Amino acid sequence: MSDRVRTLLIADNEPLKEKVENWCPTLDNLEYLGFVPATPKTLQALQLYLPDLLLVGMTNWQESLQVISRLSLAYPHGAYVVVTPNPNASAIREMMRAGVLDYLDVNADMNQAAVSLLQTYRASRKRYERLSVQVLSERSVRPAKSIVFLGNTGGVGKSTLATSIAAVFAQRGAKTVLLDLNLRSGVDPIYLGLSPDRTLADLAAEVTDLDATVLNRYLLHHSTGLDVLCAPRTAAGAASITPALVKILLQALLRQYEYVVIDTPPLLDDIVLTAVDASQDFLLVSTMNVSALHNARRLMDLWNKLGYSETDLKHIINRSGTKSGLRISDVHRILKSSVFWQVGNDEKAMNRAINDGELLVLKHPNHRISRELNRLADSLFERYRYRPTRRSRSKGSGFNLPFGKKSAQG
Ligand SMILES: Nc1ncnc2c1ncn2[C@@H]1O[C@H](COP(=O)(O)OP(=O)(O)OP(=O)(O)O)[C@@H](O)[C@H]1O
Ligand SMILES: [Mg+2]
Repeated sequence: MSDRVRTLLIADNEPLKEKVENWCPTLDNLEYLGFVPATPKTLQALQLYLPDLLLVGMTNWQESLQVISRLSLAYPHGAYVVVTPNPNASAIREMMRAGVLDYLDVNADMNQAAVSLLQTYRASRKRYERLSVQVLSERSVRPAKSIVFLGNTGGVGKSTLATSIAAVFAQRGAKTVLLDLNLRSGVDPIYLGLSPDRTLADLAAEVTDLDATVLNRYLLHHSTGLDVLCAPRTAAGAASITPALVKILLQALLRQYEYVVIDTPPLLDDIVLTAVDASQDFLLVSTMNVSALHNARRLMDLWNKLGYSETDLKHIINRSGTKSGLRISDVHRILKSSVFWQVGNDEKAMNRAINDGELLVLKHPNHRISRELNRLADSLFERYRYRPTRRSRSKGSGFNLPFGKKSAQG
């Protein structure tokens, strides 16, 4: 196997991009994979091309650090380098504090820089391999995927869908954890028939590193094999959960699981956005109800304002058989977007299953709704499967993301 360092450039700064694009391919020990812009799709490119070294050159080094902070959470395997002209001492200090491997000064001697960069890279890899035998053994075979269920209205079915999909994944043998981030009103263990005797609030009090042994003390285990991290039971417990904790927790979970399924409260707060930043798929749940649909549209507007891409949101209409007088064309009109999935309505069956502490999808797998949920899980499961084939970069200056079209239901 070649030991050339697979290197990808992430940039929006044209002069930097041009310099690096001219320089990288001339280096023997480095395999230049190409360039991607910093967009919400960048992470997918990383998972496809699996670079070892990521050169990040945004308008300024602070912006580069922001991009690195977002990407490194979901793609921790890479070594990140800030590409910048003439960094001063305080900028360098800040970059090192942020945990980047190195910086590349495009105004200095680039060939000299390459030698020292590769040396630093190899030394850090060796250190990483020596020190992280335990961490590596905990890592799942495939890079993990995190899926967030979002919604802007209470009671639309986020928890029902999140618990069902997580349980179906686990039942299929995928190492899956369900994280209940509805900190003030979490019900996921109840839906799964588990008693929430350990919660995130207990974990928040933990001071040591979140390795598998520590995490295990706070996980509930469901009969499907699903692990569950429960929401706190008190307001004080909820207040003890910070975005910083959620970030570290997700890093740990993404190392140890194939799928991380996240349930959320009916709003986008800093905790939910921390989860969004570490995730790849976003399922926006609403019902056939005018106010729920308008609220979903409001969430989409906020989502856009926050700089995320609306096309990354997949709409699920839950309880779609409800006699609300609305047709699917009304849904499209209000959402100004298409629907990814519909799940039918059966209150009696749902409530009976919950009262029995069982999920409908597990208790009655042949129920119409269970079949819909299983097919939704099929689509998500396939979608998130890690594809090991590396495709070569297409010729030309642009970067074509070779991702398939969204699958449609039915
Ligand atoms: N497809 C369905 N058919 C019938 N009832 C459903 C369906 N999906 C969910 N429900 C019921 O709707 C109620 C609310 O569901 P759930 O707790 O999943 O909503 P939520 O969006 O998580 O609410 P919250 O925002 O309060 O967390 C539950 O009683 C659940 O059983
Ligand atoms: Mg809920």
